Amino acid sequence: MKRKLNFYAGPSVIPVEVFETIQEELLDYQGSGLSLMETSHRSKDFDEVHNATISLIKELMTIPDNYKVLFLGGGATMQFSMVPMNFLQGGRSCDFTLTGAWSRKAYADAEKIGKVNIIYDGADNEYTSLPEVDSLSVNPEANYLHITSNETIGGIQWKDWPTTSVPIVCDMSSDILSRPVPIEKFGLIYAGAQKNLGPAGVTVVIIRDDMLEQCPDSLTAYMNYQTHAAKNSLYNTPPVFPIYAMKLVLERMKKLGGLPAMAELNQKKAALLYDTIEKSGGYYHSPVDQKFRSDMNVVFRLSDHNLEPKFIEEATLQGMVGLKGYRTVGGCRASIYNSMTYEGVEELVNFMDDFTQKNQ
Ligand SMILES: Cc1ncc(COP(=O)(O)O)c(C=O)c1O
Repeated sequence: MKRKLNFYAGPSVIPVEVFETIQEELLDYQGSGLSLMETSHRSKDFDEVHNATISLIKELMTIPDNYKVLFLGGGATMQFSMVPMNFLQGGRSCDFTLTGAWSRKAYADAEKIGKVNIIYDGADNEYTSLPEVDSLSVNPEANYLHITSNETIGGIQWKDWPTTSVPIVCDMSSDILSRPVPIEKFGLIYAGAQKNLGPAGVTVVIIRDDMLEQCPDSLTAYMNYQTHAAKNSLYNTPPVFPIYAMKLVLERMKKLGGLPAMAELNQKKAALLYDTIEKSGGYYHSPVDQKFRSDMNVVFRLSDHNLEPKFIEEATLQGMVGLKGYRTVGGCRASIYNSMTYEGVEELVNFMDDFTQKNQ
């Protein structure tokens, strides 16, 4: 069987080795006579998987002991509500940077719960650029600053982090574990798993102890981060299968050299694709400010927009799927997360060059 080259933005490519291990272990998990999918989440087998996954995240991201790693349901979208419910009630305020579709969604929910100051809005540049971090003026009384490290739809990515004593809350859904990050700057990081971490169904939350202490007792149990921290994410049934698959993805990342190796590979892949766009003499172009182009989601257009459906269709026929831009944006987008190989991107750029030749 020839597997397709998967450029979907999420759910997205998962390494073949991970599927092979899942396949081997699916019916009889390590000689237990049961599939892990039908095993109690309180069993020894799952307990080991669960704790090993937490340890791998801590190790790969160099997370100090004053942070907890939680596995929740509800996607990153539920964090758009949970974060303000926990940190914005009782007259507190936060600062927001509006950098594209996802931060705007997070903002729309936060604003229903408490006071939100917008300290940057990229509307003027149609969300194709980001502010220089030094130009941001964070309100010292803000309880947190919310940023979206990588805007999956617009294809822009923070390359540096704001310097502020206010804790940063970051939606890292589409670039978590793609590069090293200075954890101590963050009060809370959240990410849906379905881009760099494995299948959909689990949301990773990394939360600092001083943030945990603020969560109000008035919240219902599930919505309070303290509930999950106190029970090591086993307050209720966790998403057992995605956690197991995530462990396999993380083990592979570690074997490949961890985040420095991921960052190097991701930059190399992105450079190959952006160079092809730049060298096409305007045949392809990226609308995104060069300084902030995402290493994860490469958004581009053909100068002749009418050719885009043909481009996407022919790519699909050649086994390259998921290249259509987000439905509200149009154009093309190649998502090249951690698990996309360099060779996969080479195939794409060869196709792009070939398409240019044939459709001048
Ligand atoms: C940056 C970002 N934030 C949030 C979400 C929403 O995630 P979920 O579908 O897990 O709720 C996505 C999904 O693509 C995303 O890319």
